[in-house]
This record gives sequence, C-alpha cells and structure tokens, in this order.
Amino acid sequence: MQRPVLKFEDVGFAYDGRDVLKQVSLSVGRGELIALLGPSGCGKTTILNIIAGFLDPTSGCAFIDDRLIDGPGPDRGVVFQSYALFDWMTVRDNIAFSLRCSGQPRKTRSQVADRMADLVGLRGFEDAYPYQLSGGMRQRCGLARVLAANPKVMLMDEPFAAVDVQTRETLQEEILNIKAETGCTIVFVTHSIDEAVFLADRVLVLTNLAEGHYIDLPIDLPLPRSSPANRLHPSFLALREKIYIEMRERHGRSPVSGLREAGQ
Ligand SMILES: Nc1ncnc2c1ncn2[C@@H]1O[C@H](COP(=O)(O)OP(=O)(O)OP(=O)(O)O)[C@@H](O)[C@H]1O
Ligand SMILES: [Mg+2]
Repeated sequence: MQRPVLKFEDVGFAYDGRDVLKQVSLSVGRGELIALLGPSGCGKTTILNIIAGFLDPTSGCAFIDDRLIDGPGPDRGVVFQSYALFDWMTVRDNIAFSLRCSGQPRKTRSQVADRMADLVGLRGFEDAYPYQLSGGMRQRCGLARVLAANPKVMLMDEPFAAVDVQTRETLQEEILNIKAETGCTIVFVTHSIDEAVFLADRVLVLTNLAEGHYIDLPIDLPLPRSSPANRLHPSFLALREKIYIEMRERHGRSPVSGLREAGQ
C-alpha cells in the first residue's frame, strides 16, 4: 500500500466503561475503498465517528495524513443512511451548501452543483425540491452534496440501506465511477456481503473489535469494477461464499439467518 491516508494505531473506544473497540489498528491507502462489514452493534459506526472526528478514541491514536484527528474537518465528508437534506432548498442549493459556507461566489457554486448533479445522475432535477424526489434521488443528492465539498475521504454509513435493490445497484455502480473519476478514498459501512464485495478493494470483516480482531480480505475483481457483470463473476461468488462462511462461523449466524430461522 502507498502511504496511508487513514491510520488507526491501537485505537480503543468504550461507552460507559464497556469496550467497543480495543487496540484496533488499521490503515487505508489513498484512493482505496474499504468496506466495513459486520453484525449490528459490532462497532462500525463507532469507527466511522472516530475517523470523522465526532468521537475521540479512549486510547490509541487515529491519523489522517499523519496528522492526529482531533475533530471534524473539511477533508472528511460523511454520507449518512438518512438523507439529511434541507427541505426548503432546491437540489442545486443543497448540493452547493458547503460552498456557500466556505464563501464561494454564486456562479462557482452553481457550476459545481450542476457538475455534481450530473455526476450522480440528477441532471434536469437541479431546481427540484427534496419532496419532489424519490428516495434514491434524495440519496444521490446527499452524495452530491458531500462530493461538492471535495473531501479527501468519504465516510459512508449504510448509505443505500433505505433504497430498493435496483436503485441500490445503480448507486453502487455510480460510487465506483465517481471513485475512478475523483480518486477519493472511501470507507463504506454495510451489512450486505454482496455490497461489500462489489464495491471494495478490501473488505474488513469485523469479527471481534472488542478484542481488536478483524479479517482483512483483498478483493480482486476485473476492471472496470463498476461493470454489473462482476456481480456474477466466479471470483465474486467465491469471495461472497468465503465471507458468508466466515461470518456464520464467528457469530453462529449469518446476516440472513433471520430469514432462514423464520422459514424453519
Ligand atoms: N451513545 C451510546 N451510548 C452507549 N452505547 C452505545 C452508544 N452508541 C453505540 N453504543 C454501543 O456501542 C456498540 C457499537 O455501536 P455502533 O453504533 O458502532 O455499532 P454498528 O456496528 O454501527 O451497529 P449497526 O449495524 O446496528 O449500525 C453497540 O453495542 C452499541 O450498543
Ligand atoms: Mg451503525
């Protein structure tokens, strides 16, 4: 890996004296997309919040570009699961919000916003309001808003959990195209094995963060990575099976065990 953009050195985090993370070390290279995959409550959002600077580690250190993370900053953008758009602003103004905060002139704001709207497939909807958009379109608008701020690192916490399967697949392909175009580094939290394998350069299967354990799995799939054909590629299917078995063994159940149990 080249010089890492993000680095955890023995990071620990406890809520009310209960360890969620203990001596977790990891690094993310420039332009890399890592997926954090693990069951509910295992500490995915906690990791993201530490990188975002919303939470301070209880022990150890987290770095961005060799600088200690000591609060939020414009070099990191967060895309949440819910859309978090401003209802009273148009798509263009929502996307351009960070540029307005940083005092960019109206013309620049408008140009950047329209380019980002284009990038995420919202061309023609720049003047629409959030209530006029579908769930998937709102999520694209949230994504464009983070992209407009041109962060070095994008932190995405289950951003597509609330959209239908087809929209979700389209958005995944868009993320990969955007990553190829902008070269940004992405940390992507998901519950879905398929989503993790399709998107990531590396999947971290979070087996036991309270003991500092996780499995670091490189993903090798044909380029372009955004090709839908990759979803049926033998390597994709093999990786998916490997992770599925790993998670099932570690947790005694898989992410789909609820369905199985319900059907039994
Ligand atoms: N504000 C809080 N106060 C106390 N405990 C918390 C708080 N936030 C999270 N936790 C606990 O910390 C652990 C890790 O939470 P975290 O939100 O990081 O999990 P997660 O992997 O993101 O889960 P999910 O997939 O459900 O979003 C959980 O056991 C949770 O109960
Ligand atoms: Mg979470």
